[in-house]
Amino acid sequence: MNEQGNQSANKLSIIGAGAVGTSAAQWAVSRAIAQEIVLLDVVSGIPQGKALDLSQAAPLCGFCGTIIGTNDYADTAGSDVVIITAGLARKPGMTRDDLLEKNVQIIKSVTKQVAANSPNACIIVVTNPIDAMVYTVFKVSGFPKTRIIGMAGVLDSARYRTLIAKAVGVSPSDVSALVMGIHGDNMLPLVRLASVGGVPVKELLSPDQLEEIIRRTREGGAEIVQYLKTGSAFSTPGLAAIEMAEAILKDKKRVLPCAAYLEGEYGVNGLFMGVPVVLGKKGIERILEFELTSKEKQALDQSVEAVKRQVKATGL
Ligand code: NAI
Ligand code: 2OP
Repeated sequence: MNEQGNQSANKLSIIGAGAVGTSAAQWAVSRAIAQEIVLLDVVSGIPQGKALDLSQAAPLCGFCGTIIGTNDYADTAGSDVVIITAGLARKPGMTRDDLLEKNVQIIKSVTKQVAANSPNACIIVVTNPIDAMVYTVFKVSGFPKTRIIGMAGVLDSARYRTLIAKAVGVSPSDVSALVMGIHGDNMLPLVRLASVGGVPVKELLSPDQLEEIIRRTREGGAEIVQYLKTGSAFSTPGLAAIEMAEAILKDKKRVLPCAAYLEGEYGVNGLFMGVPVVLGKKGIERILEFELTSKEKQALDQSVEAVKRQVKATGL
């Protein structure tokens, strides 16, 4: 029970108390999406200090639950949703693929402990290269495909929508747009389906403007790394993960682009790929499928080939 006497509802654990994990915890507290929030890291003191700091925001933001920091997976036991952000982040000159070798080892060890302590959880994977790391979590956890979800499309689509909104000069909330495929250079920002208040974006922007928006969407992560130099984007990635966690914890049936395990959808088999899904209490409750044009299909095939190369490098 919390201070107000409400029944404890949901438990969210965030693995990795670095930049993205801390941002996710902060958004989770400010949106009060779970009654219990646990922040875990391998480094002693960091999650404890960050959680204590965030717990002191409660009177200012109205959060009535608990947030603790820990190095012990026992504290994460019985989580409904676990967000994995543990691992190395990009530095200038590094691609997401450069992170693979080290992060696959971290992800294997984290997944074993998450699965043992929270056997019924939905796991949202953030660590890069995401399309291979989410596959690793799926294989190592043995969880059903509906409960393993990769975060990238929500972030990439938010970047795409922001760029469209700026170019048209409208509120980003009124831009609807979808990025599918890999979280990498071959991602697929769909122009055909992008709209501003229901008006097709192709009617509002020139082909050159759209091409520039697609380029900046694809390079959105690298652009931020170039500025930060010591790490990569964290504020919007943290929020994107929380948007997904909230949809699951509150059974919202949100339609969000997520990396989902495909078995024939979009002609893809046995790989995680960014596609629109319905997120609710059971995790991925449905994959929304629609017909791609031959040009879009070709672009998706490039994503598939790139993900296959990444997955092969995991050795799984
Ligand atoms: P960071 O370096 O700030 O934080 C990573 C944290 O993981 C550190 O606190 C570290 O101590 C912890 N860690 C390392 N090994 C661990 C283990 N075995 N168990 C528990 N914790 C462990 O990195 P940041 O910026 O938070 O990024 C995290 C990951 O998320 C990176 O791989 C990054 O590339 C990825 N990322 C993915 C995005 C996406 O769209 N999917 C967007 C942004 C970041
Ligand atoms: C991003 O897109 C680095 O994947 C991370 O910002």
